[in-house]
Order: sequence, then structure tokens, then C-alpha cells
Amino acid sequence: MAPNVYITRKIPQPALDRLREAGIQFDVYPHDEVIPHDVLLEQVAGRDGILCILTDTIDEEVLHCAGRAKIFANYAVGYNNIDVEAATRRGIAVTNTPGVLTDATADLAWTLLFAAARNVIESDAYLRAGKFVGWGPLHFLGQDVAGKTLGVIGLGRIGKAFVQRGAAFRMNILYHSRQRDEVFEQSYPHEIKYVELHELLERSDFVSIHVPLTPETTHLIGKRELERMQSHAILINTARGPIVDEQALVDALKERRIWGAGLDVYEEEPTVHPGLLSLPHTVLLPHIGSATYATRTRMGLIAVDNLIAFFTGKRPPNLVNEKVWK
Ligand code: NAP
Ligand code: GLV
Ligand code: GLV
Repeated sequence: MAPNVYITRKIPQPALDRLREAGIQFDVYPHDEVIPHDVLLEQVAGRDGILCILTDTIDEEVLHCAGRAKIFANYAVGYNNIDVEAATRRGIAVTNTPGVLTDATADLAWTLLFAAARNVIESDAYLRAGKFVGWGPLHFLGQDVAGKTLGVIGLGRIGKAFVQRGAAFRMNILYHSRQRDEVFEQSYPHEIKYVELHELLERSDFVSIHVPLTPETTHLIGKRELERMQSHAILINTARGPIVDEQALVDALKERRIWGAGLDVYEEEPTVHPGLLSLPHTVLLPHIGSATYATRTRMGLIAVDNLIAFFTGKRPPNLVNEKVWK
């Protein structure tokens, strides 16, 4: 019998076409909204596999209800929405979509950096409101970018792509990650140095976060860390909201202890701390890091390729929990 898959949200058509051509049956949650948890629990029952998105909380209860399903293919590179340990215990494979969204997400981190540094959002709103009545020497002054120091937390795929883009702006790099990468350091044409987190925070003009959300990175940036940053510095987060203590960030911005922020992710998505909404030099995007036509299609194709590999008895190429395959 053909395997039967449940897809928790509509994804780009080419991915659905590929799944169909592979002879896999599937149903898609039909509404353009996050699937309600009770519907998710109902729909996963009796399926052979699930294609889920990053807003689906895949916990013990879901895994239990899924019963027969032995693969959860996440439509995202981050998989903190899935209880991987519980899945592994149950012999359920978990896959993600690394690589194909690296450029899009690094581009968006730079978009946030420039938008915050140069008051792009406020000055655009000012013009649209009909307030632009002439050039002014003191209007909308922001921060220089070229030649400044960029602090990068998490030198993985996206962190590296973010740094590489900085070469064009002659940025000096301070990075902190689980390990030093001397080969990458040699490929960068300006200054680049591996440092402890406190030094990175103290010396950077811009700090950009690119670590995954794990127990170790939850609130990695809190009150103490923000206090180490310079008063003209800007914090960029395109990784995951809970890596930053949002209340502490609001306080630091309000008290002008740091200058600005560019955020694509929030601690309690889709809720955004109301304190962020009225702050200057603060750019707030609705988690669109990978949102380009081509990238979202590639993510769909990768997620589907993992399902197809699994159902043909092959190791899914983007298996997160190796243990289940041994
Ligand atoms: P990646 O290649 O795995 O890079 C993550 C890096 O962080 C790795 O170098 C990793 O080190 C390092 N790291 C892990 N834990 C750390 C810790 N406790 N302290 C310091 N460094 C640590 O992942 P990626 O593809 O670049 O993606 C990064 C994250 O971006 C994803 O997990 C996701 O949450 C987020 N993301 C967001 C969007 C968006 O739409 N805004 C889009 C794509 C991705 P090791 O190599 O030693 O593990
Ligand atoms: C998006 O946030 C992802 O992790 O792919
Ligand atoms: C600004 O437009 C300038 O010419 O300096």
C-alpha cells in the first residue's frame, strides 16, 4: 500500500507534485493558518509520515497520537519545535531543510542591520505621511556600517554566509561559536577573531545571532549581556526568539543602553512584546528569513525528498537523529 503522509500547512506546489509523482498519498491541512493543536492530534493518527512546519509543536502527545508514523519531516532548518529526544526514543526519524535557506536568511540579517542602522522604516513612514518638506542636516541620523566591527554568535551555515557578505563592507569580525574555524578565518579578507561572548558583546558595533535554539542558548542574551554592549550598538536576531530575553531587550532599548535592534523572531511567536512596538531604531519583521519564492520551493523539495528516501528504505539525507538509523 502507498504510504500516507499528512502535511500540516500548504507548501509550494512543486513539492506536492514531487510527492505525488513518487506515489505517496497525502492530505494537506486546507486552511491558511497554523493548524490547531487538536486538529493536528486527530490528523496525525494512522499516517505513515508527517510533513510539519516550525509553528507545530511536536511533543510527546503528538508523537503518541501519530502512533504509526516513523518520520517527521520539518519544513525548516531549525527543529526546536520537535521533541527530538522523545522521537528518537520512539524510533521516529526527524529531518530538516539545511543549506537551501542559508543565503536568504543571511540576506535578511543584513537587511535588518541596514534598516535599523539607517532608520529605513521610520524615514519611509515619515515620507509617506507627507512630512518630507526638504533635506535636513540633522534628519534621521543613523550609524555608519562600512569598516565597523561585526559580532557573530554561531558560526554555522548562516553565520558564515552573514560574515562573507560583510567582506564587501570591510567589516572586522569577532565571532563566538562552539569551536574556532581557522580554515574559515583564512578565507576572510579582513580582520576576524574568535573570542569569548563577553568580549564580542563589549567590542562589536553590531551583534548578530545565528545559533540554534537549545537549552544552552535559551536567554543566551539577557540583561547582563545587553549591559556589556556599546550604547551605539545594534542587536540583530534572525535565529530564534527565546535566545534573547525580550523583556531585557525592551529595557535596554528604552533606557538607551543599546541603540537599536533588528528582529525577525520573537520569544512567544506570534505574540510580540508590546514594549518593542514603540521603540526607535527597531525593525520588526514577521519571521520571514527564508521567505523567497525559490527558497521556500527548495525547502519543500528537500522536505519531500527526505520523505521519499525514507519510504524507499534509504537513509533520509537530512536526518537529525542519526541514532534511529543505526
Ligand atoms: P548551523 O549550520 O547548525 O549553525 C549553527 C551554529 O551555531 C553552529 O556553528 C553551531 O556549532 C553553533 N552553536 C550551537 N550551539 C551553540 C552554543 N551553545 N554556543 C555557541 N555556538 C553554538 O545552523 P544554520 O543553518 O546556520 O541555522 C541557524 C539557525 O537559524 C537555525 O537553527 C534556525 O533556528 C535559524 N533560522 C532562522 C530563519 C528565519 O526564518 N529567521 C531561517 C533559517 C534558520 P556546532 O557546529 O558546533 O554545532
Ligand atoms: C526558519 O526559521 C527555519 O528554521 O528554517
Ligand atoms: C547629499 O545628498 C549630498 O549631496 O551630500
